[in-house]
Amino acid sequence: MALKTKDLLGLRDISTDEILEILDTAETMKKIVTGPTKKTPHLQGKSIINLFYENSTRTRLSFELAAKYMSAVAANISSSGSSVKKGESLIDTGKTIDMMGTDLIVLRHPMSGAAATLAANVNAAVINAGDGTNEHPTQALLDMFTIREKKGGFDGLKVAVVGDVVHSRVARSNIFGLTKMGAEVVLAGPPTLLPAPGCEIPGVQYTYNIEEAVKGADVVMALRIQLERQKKGLFPSIREYSRFFGIDPEMLKLAKPDAIVMHPGPMNRGVEISSYVADSDASFINEQVTNGVSVRMALLYMMTRRELRR
Ligand code: CP
Repeated sequence: MALKTKDLLGLRDISTDEILEILDTAETMKKIVTGPTKKTPHLQGKSIINLFYENSTRTRLSFELAAKYMSAVAANISSSGSSVKKGESLIDTGKTIDMMGTDLIVLRHPMSGAAATLAANVNAAVINAGDGTNEHPTQALLDMFTIREKKGGFDGLKVAVVGDVVHSRVARSNIFGLTKMGAEVVLAGPPTLLPAPGCEIPGVQYTYNIEEAVKGADVVMALRIQLERQKKGLFPSIREYSRFFGIDPEMLKLAKPDAIVMHPGPMNRGVEISSYVADSDASFINEQVTNGVSVRMALLYMMTRRELRR
């Protein structure tokens, strides 16, 4: 099955059937990623461009490897070193890439809504690889893949998402995806890092009490403190944040004994998560990275084989 729409801009409007199809396809792709021969003809003759206006290690490299493992022609453009630095607009850069025979553009951008703007102006399919504080759908899909792999499903699972919720596109996409699939999502952080009252996403619980969130959780997801997106003074000090909101062994004891720990990366060790927890047997942070390649292979495959064009 292909996705119903040309683009993947977020998980807010995607169906549960589409999510399941992506996760099932990624399961097949994982056999390739972890197998001895990482070369398939799935994307032979297809052209994929990574267009990144923000720094990235995991997302950019996993999209590039996913494309190359499946025999696509793949290239990267970053804002530094391209004509963006000469003042070219996102739409003009997108149209230029589009006119070179590109089938799919992967966009990361600091502005919320940038992926939707690009998608409306190019014929190529667009995957949102993170737009401002809006959504990061492929991260949430790889998180969901990891949760399903470890927990067998989503129904009735308690997922605690802890930290810088208000700036987190990862949290937003996970809220949309996980609640659709039947999980209970509880978000915890200091008041300055949670949405203002009245701006919360319905269907999930927000709390300033991290113990309440982590208690009995099946999954504990720590979020990165996004110092680059913050105005100053949202918490008194890194030390205090870590003391009250960091995931350490004592905090983790409140979760279910078989709870898994996740983090989208990159981690601030000793801030939102202790090194002891990050490197413990409960942590599946490294596996999330492997699963990121599998999920992105699935999406590239599904989105370049569909007949539908705008
Ligand atoms: N999780 C994530 O998006 O990481 P990168 O910024 O390294 O791509």
